[in-house]
Amino acid sequence: MKLPRYEQIEVAPLSGAIGAVIRGVDCGTHLTDDVIAEIRSAWLQHLVVFFCDQQLRPDQQLAFARRLGHVVAYPMVNGLPDFPEVVPVIKYPDEQFNFGGLWHADTTYLEEPPMAGLLLAREVPPVGGDTLFANMYLAYETLSGGMKSLVDGLTVVQSSAKPDAARSREKRVKANAKEEGRVLVAKHPAVKLHPETGRKALYVNFGHSIGFEEMTEEESRPILDYLFRHQVRPEFTCRFRWTEGAMALWDNRCTQHNPMNDYHGFTRVMHRVSIG
Ligand code: SIN
Repeated sequence: MKLPRYEQIEVAPLSGAIGAVIRGVDCGTHLTDDVIAEIRSAWLQHLVVFFCDQQLRPDQQLAFARRLGHVVAYPMVNGLPDFPEVVPVIKYPDEQFNFGGLWHADTTYLEEPPMAGLLLAREVPPVGGDTLFANMYLAYETLSGGMKSLVDGLTVVQSSAKPDAARSREKRVKANAKEEGRVLVAKHPAVKLHPETGRKALYVNFGHSIGFEEMTEEESRPILDYLFRHQVRPEFTCRFRWTEGAMALWDNRCTQHNPMNDYHGFTRVMHRVSIG
């Protein structure tokens, strides 16, 4: 891939594998098409980009999201009363589990999972609650030839009902469910061709993948367990430390993320918008 040059924005990589901080942009203003095009290039190159000090109102977060694609609803939990597409991702001081607190890509149990996630930090603990991101191109490219040819031909079944993922959103669903008890299941290629970069990305994830359509559960399990370990090797990841007003934009087609649950006794409030 030819490396883009940036004239409107500053792009500082966060690790050798994934992630970059973008500076020189106020996402609450109407950005020119040139700036949006550079943000998009940096996002495709680095897979997740971060903006600091963006004190956006929900309408401004939505307006920025709409410059990148169309906004899509989250199926499990209602959004803010006045902005249903903005989903609060919250952990309160008396709670044990954090929302989405395991390695996953968002809602891969849908027929059409979102292209991107846009997460804005509203209230953060004094320390902890960082989010890890992992690069699924590298996860695929570093498999052996034998494993590549096996997974290349497989279809992965993804479910919203895996116990660890369901537990992580239990409190929010109890308080604010769209349809409690609904189980969503979808099938996807285990390796997906990214529609914009043309690269192959490993498309199984610990949060939602339950087996391969072409195999029994018993056959699927050890392969999935291996892939779940392999795909989040530290050298495929970056770690972002949140401050209030920081915002992440990840490519949900070729990344996974995992928020750390290491801030018990404190509140963490994020606002998430999904983009299709
Ligand atoms: C999510 O999975 O969307 C939440 C990520 C986070 O809280 O950092």
